Amino acid sequence: MLRERVLEALENNRGVPVSGQELAEKCGVSRAAVWKVIEALKKDGYPILSVRSSGYVLEQNSDVLSEAAVRAALKGVLPDMEIRVFREIDSTNNEAKRMLASGYSGRALLAADRQTAGRGRLGKSFYSPAGSGLYFSLIMKPASDSEHLPMTTLQAGVAAVRAVRKITGKELSLKWVNDLFLDGKKVGGILTEAVTDLESGAVSDIVLGIGINISTESFPEDIGQSVGNIGAGCIRSMLCAEIASQFFSIDPSDPSSYMEEYRRCSLVLGRDVSYHGETVRALSIDETGGLEIMYENGTRKIIRGGEIKLPEQ
Ligand code: BTN
Repeated sequence: MLRERVLEALENNRGVPVSGQELAEKCGVSRAAVWKVIEALKKDGYPILSVRSSGYVLEQNSDVLSEAAVRAALKGVLPDMEIRVFREIDSTNNEAKRMLASGYSGRALLAADRQTAGRGRLGKSFYSPAGSGLYFSLIMKPASDSEHLPMTTLQAGVAAVRAVRKITGKELSLKWVNDLFLDGKKVGGILTEAVTDLESGAVSDIVLGIGINISTESFPEDIGQSVGNIGAGCIRSMLCAEIASQFFSIDPSDPSSYMEEYRRCSLVLGRDVSYHGETVRALSIDETGGLEIMYENGTRKIIRGGEIKLPEQ
């Protein structure tokens, strides 16, 4: 589509003017056709300037989320990845499941500017207002050794920590198992869902959803926990591309390659936390993602699900 091609050329040259002539030649259309597309893009909110005698320039810090923006930010990494971006969707995880149900088979990245029914773990909702957060899902096939499947969330946690560090210089903490924290506040979360093949009963695909509050400031009152954001000024397409490339650069069959980092970022290790209303000490996290806890009477147990609460939560 012409619109996508023009946008792609501008995204690949953020902050640098591209002449109307060049765009027209690249896309095999007239300069007038390019002008029309540019006007439509501007109308849709893209910060594009028309610079007399040098062409069109997409503002360096444009934060309009689009397929072209994510593709450009990937800089040639993950070329086989299907990318779809929605202005508004119920939940990118739901959309991923619908895509799989209608026969899609392959890797994909689905992102949205806003979710109307964003979901979190344990039936909670994930507040996803327009323009101020990153909400996306990855569809992937499970690695052949399904023993590492439960580790997907932890692998994604480390990918998010690395990406946020690279893009913003900030250090996220991980609250076992899927919460992303900054300065004592929850700033995001990960929701991993397995899609099973009805006939074989085996996991056929994984849907990995990640949500990060970037500049969201006011949250619904019923969220019931201390929430925050990682701070404005972070371009969502860049963060999205960085998390995806960090995630896929980790070998899922080798948890030892990222578990040290997961433990280092852990917000719970060595602390007294609450589990099912009881105070327990979080002792260690093993190579299968299990959290070893100790009750006040000294009994130890490894847990694989449920929610850990911090004393301050
Ligand atoms: C949690 O906090 O428990 C997990 C939150 C996961 C939110 C992301 S946003 C993108 C994807 N779509 C959803 O509906 N949820 C995940």
